[in-house]
Amino acid sequence: MRLEALDGLVAPDFPHTPASHHDPLPADLSARIAGGDARAFGAFHRGELVGFTVVVQAKERWEVDRTAVDRRWRGQGVAQAVKASSVLDTYADGVRVWGTGGAAVNTASRRMNEALGFVLEPFWLALVPPVGWREYAESGPGGMRVES
Ligand SMILES: CC(C)(COP(=O)(O)OP(=O)(O)OC[C@H]1O[C@@H](n2cnc3c(N)ncnc32)[C@H](O)[C@@H]1OP(=O)(O)O)[C@@H](O)C(=O)NCCC(=O)NCCS
Repeated sequence: MRLEALDGLVAPDFPHTPASHHDPLPADLSARIAGGDARAFGAFHRGELVGFTVVVQAKERWEVDRTAVDRRWRGQGVAQAVKASSVLDTYADGVRVWGTGGAAVNTASRRMNEALGFVLEPFWLALVPPVGWREYAESGPGGMRVES
């Protein structure tokens, strides 16, 4: 399986929150890998890609674009292995700072990152209204009537 195919397969499993969601792979990923400012690491079973991580350079820091594992291979350390590979490989080239994101609801992702030594920075707290303003305004006593 190719990286694009596996990414598409696992896309629905990425948490969809106000601050995080699945994006298509960068259109210029191959060019960035060829140019040296992105790298992809895969785990394979009998030649089939079962998990991967993609990291991209952001000045002196390397950022994890995404990590994903085929559902059939989860919970066996595949994510930690590919992510550890990305750290070791870039470390060998002098990189000392890595960044990664993750939604608080994504326990597997958080634990994967903690296992690798990532520490939480002061983080974004995304606040969203429970309903749109129009629904709120029309929601009964205290609400306003909206004419349009
Ligand atoms: C997140 C994801 C990559 C983890 O892959 P994985 O190969 O199952 O992860 P690992 O086996 O390396 O386990 C990582 C840690 O998460 C824990 N874990 C794995 N699945 C879990 C689950 N469903 N619930 C809670 N913890 C879980 C593991 O126990 C391990 O923690 P530990 O070392 O403290 O025991 C995988 O679930 C996935 O592809 N999800 C969809 C894509 C996604 O959300 N990617 C992350 C955002 S970029």
